[in-house]
Amino acid sequence: MNVVLVGAQWGDEGKGKIIDILSEKADYIVRYQGGNNAGHTVVVNNKEFILHLIPSGILHKNKKCIIGNGVVVDPEALIKEINHFKKYGLDVDKNLIISDRVHIIFPYHRLLDVLREEKRGKIGTTKRGIGPCYADKVNRCGLRASDLLNRRLFAKKLKANVKEKNEFLRKIYNHKGFSYNELLRQYLGYARIMKKHIADTSIILNEAIKKKKYILFEGAQGTLLDIDHGTYPFVTSSNTSAGGASTGAGVSPIKMDRIIGVVKAYTTRVGEGPLPTEFGKVLMDMIRRRGKEFGATTGRPRRCGWFDNVVARHSASINGLTDVALTKLDVLDSLKEVKICTAYRYKSKVLKYFPGDIDILSECKPIYESMPGWMKDTSSCKRYRDLPVNARRYLERLSRLMGAKISIVSVGSRRRETIIKK
Ligand code: GDP
Ligand code: IMO
Ligand code: MG
Repeated sequence: MNVVLVGAQWGDEGKGKIIDILSEKADYIVRYQGGNNAGHTVVVNNKEFILHLIPSGILHKNKKCIIGNGVVVDPEALIKEINHFKKYGLDVDKNLIISDRVHIIFPYHRLLDVLREEKRGKIGTTKRGIGPCYADKVNRCGLRASDLLNRRLFAKKLKANVKEKNEFLRKIYNHKGFSYNELLRQYLGYARIMKKHIADTSIILNEAIKKKKYILFEGAQGTLLDIDHGTYPFVTSSNTSAGGASTGAGVSPIKMDRIIGVVKAYTTRVGEGPLPTEFGKVLMDMIRRRGKEFGATTGRPRRCGWFDNVVARHSASINGLTDVALTKLDVLDSLKEVKICTAYRYKSKVLKYFPGDIDILSECKPIYESMPGWMKDTSSCKRYRDLPVNARRYLERLSRLMGAKISIVSVGSRRRETIIKK
């Protein structure tokens, strides 16, 4: 079985937790886009693990964890993460496989990310060099993992890139640039460590599919951060939606059996860009505190708002969601009233579809319907029928509005705080 799991909002929906739960039965867990801009949290025995590049399945024994061709890899961050997880006795050396086609992040990508933020208007990026690395990929001048394996060719390509980047940095930003010799030495050192992990991962995955293995594709970020379908330009630089799993792993779309959207019971966003249902101060402070809404990668406070079904429906449609994993229901436990945005008002019009134009979206006002809250603890509920009736009504309403069935309900960060409906 091949299952794609995507974030259906602006990231941080709880993908890490759901991947961890599903990984128990999976054979392969595959990251297919993004890089260490992601921060996926998994809680095991009250210990919190945050994964940035390594697939969240690594916390289970003997699962093959693949970093697919669509990912951009910062070797420094990767090696740090590998060493971190090895300390917990996890067999990362045996189980982590990295595509020979991943693009490599260099310090000049990180610097260009930071300088662009300062000088060209803020997107609120994670400053990990993700955008500039993907830009080199699309511009066909990037360096890939396979390049790291050929010392002579790597040196040649790196020299050309450093020269070009230094010229640009000097001219545009008056920055002195980077030493080619220093970067070469540093990256050849990384290559020695990474070498044993590098392989043609699409061959491995397609062979596994022939053997009917269970493959779980772990999306990073969320659909509204998709470079094509998100709130451009306030997006990340990859296809975060389900289609990205195919191109980013080298597996045909016809092979995908299920597409699960992870949807938070409310909405959050970190970084700049419109968030139509954003709370006022009182609710913002309360939900941020209860939901611990601070970024897993940068620590920035996340902006929070009511459930936005214009967003969720857009996501269900773009991704073709077969299932929804609804997370963080427990965060709403104490509210007297819960609101759902069902459409936007733009000037005198009512919009039911998510607008592609960011200037229109910025002026949209949410149209809400309201439901009574349940005002009871849900975190101890083990079965769907244990949930308070108003919580079930809320879930059923969301499911109908999204046009997708809710198969998993998460009521806490721990493994046992999960209700599997089907
Ligand atoms: P991801 O990037 O989609 O994997 O999500 P993050 O890990 O960045 O953020 C989700 C946060 O919510 C993490 O701290 C999780 O431990 C936590 N979490 C996940 N599911 C639930 C839930 O159902 N209830 C609560 N209260 N916390 C949850
Ligand atoms: P996970 O996988 C939430 C946001 C950044 C910024 C925009 C562009 O944990 O859900 P980038 O560094 O990618 O160029 O930043 O995207 N962003 C995320 N927001 N969760 C993430 O990942 C994110 N990764 C990037 O905040 O607004
Ligand atoms: Mg996250």
